[in-house]
Formats: sequence, C-alpha cells, structure tokens
Amino acid sequence: MKQQLKELPADRILVSPSILSADFSNLAADVRMVEEAGCDMIHLDVMDGHFVPNITFGPPVVKSLRRHSKLLFDTHLMISRPLRYAKAFAEAGADLLTFHLESEDPPSEMIRALRELGCSVGISIKPKTPAEAVFPYLKEIDMVLVMTVEPGFGGQSFMADMIPKVAELHTLLRTHNPACRIQVDGGIDAKTAPEIIRAGASILVAGTAVFRAEKGAAEAIRTLHSYTPLLPLR
Ligand code: DX5
Ligand code: ZN
Repeated sequence: MKQQLKELPADRILVSPSILSADFSNLAADVRMVEEAGCDMIHLDVMDGHFVPNITFGPPVVKSLRRHSKLLFDTHLMISRPLRYAKAFAEAGADLLTFHLESEDPPSEMIRALRELGCSVGISIKPKTPAEAVFPYLKEIDMVLVMTVEPGFGGQSFMADMIPKVAELHTLLRTHNPACRIQVDGGIDAKTAPEIIRAGASILVAGTAVFRAEKGAAEAIRTLHSYTPLLPLR
C-alpha cells in the first residue's frame, strides 16, 4: 500500500532530504542515515537530460531503494514526458509523484493517471512560471512544489523572489484547498527557510543542507523542524 501525503502531520514542518546530494555509490546507506536522522520523507530527483540539462536515475533505482526505507518516497519528476513513466515509478515504489506543469503532458491527464495508480499528486512550477498557472489544478492535488532554483542541479543559491509566489499560493489554498501543502526545493537551509515558511511553505526539500551539514544531518533536520512555529495559520 502506498503512503499518502495527507496522512503525514499537517501542523508541522516536514523535511524531505534530496538524495541528489547523497553518495550515489552508497545510496542505500545514505537513505537509511537520513531516516535515522529524523527526516519525514525521501526526495528523489528524476532528471531526463531533456527537461533539464542533467541526468540522474529512473525506476530501477527507486525500486532498489524501496526496501531500505519505510518513509514516503517523494518523487520529483523533472522529465518531459511524465505520463509515459508514471506507472513505472508508481510500481517501483514512489508514493508521491510530482510532475512539472511545464512538461509536455496535459496536467489533468497526469493527475487522473496518478490517482488511478493510488499515488499522491504534486505539481511543480519553475521559477519563471507564475503562481496563476497552477490555479486551475489546485483543488485536485495534494501538493504544489515551488522551485526556488532553476531545476537541474543541487547546491544552487535560493531565489528569495519566490517568497511572494509561495505567499500568493498559500492565500489561495486557504480558501480553495486547505489540505494541499506547499513544498519548496532549491537552496533551502537554516538561513533561507524561515522567510519561505512564514509565507506558507511547510515541506522543505534540502540536499546540500542535510547531506553536507557541518554538524551532521540530525542537527540540520532538527533545526528545520524547529521552525514549525513560523508557519502561518491556515
Ligand atoms: C534541483 C533539485 C533539488 C536539489 C536541491 O533541481 O530538484 O531537489 O537537489 O538541492 P539543494 O538543497 O542542494 O539546493
Ligand atoms: Zn527536487
């Protein structure tokens, strides 16, 4: 059975470490390490070398990792044709599948396919895509992922100009779909997180900040969790 995003606590910050910053020759150990360090889900960055100028991994890697973690697999599809691969990722063990609004497939078809597969549904928007673009789908999805860097690579700088976009989405969700959560991804760390949390982001993706943390992953995750009181009231 798939884990559903809506079953995870809605009243606190959730941390989703991006394994893009893990040691790819030792992924299972790194996934276990962040799970023991207290993270809430695992962020899997799938890139096809077409939608973004980088290539990572596909369903076989997700399937291999599945038996090493009980956590929700938060799968970020940075691929041009998500509809073509949705089933393969779902069968490999992805729980939440997030596709890009800028991909080539019709969003409503993708949402329908993911529901049929029993997955939670996320839609992601790149920095240049306005919040309005996702409005028509807000009632049907579990999560909006606001990219806070251009997708493709870990270790980039957080774009503070995405804060108003998160605030706008948060305001809208309050009336139209309060259960839908906002995730942010790119350059999130102890310094950049507070402002975007105040704007309404409650799921934080962090690659560098968790896997390369000076004081270790557990401390980094604890710090991000400690910002829960900054969340605006729904
Ligand atoms: C970027 C990816 C991110 C990335 C985040 O395209 O979607 O998940 O790995 O890495 P950091 O936290 O290092 O910016
Ligand atoms: Zn990502």
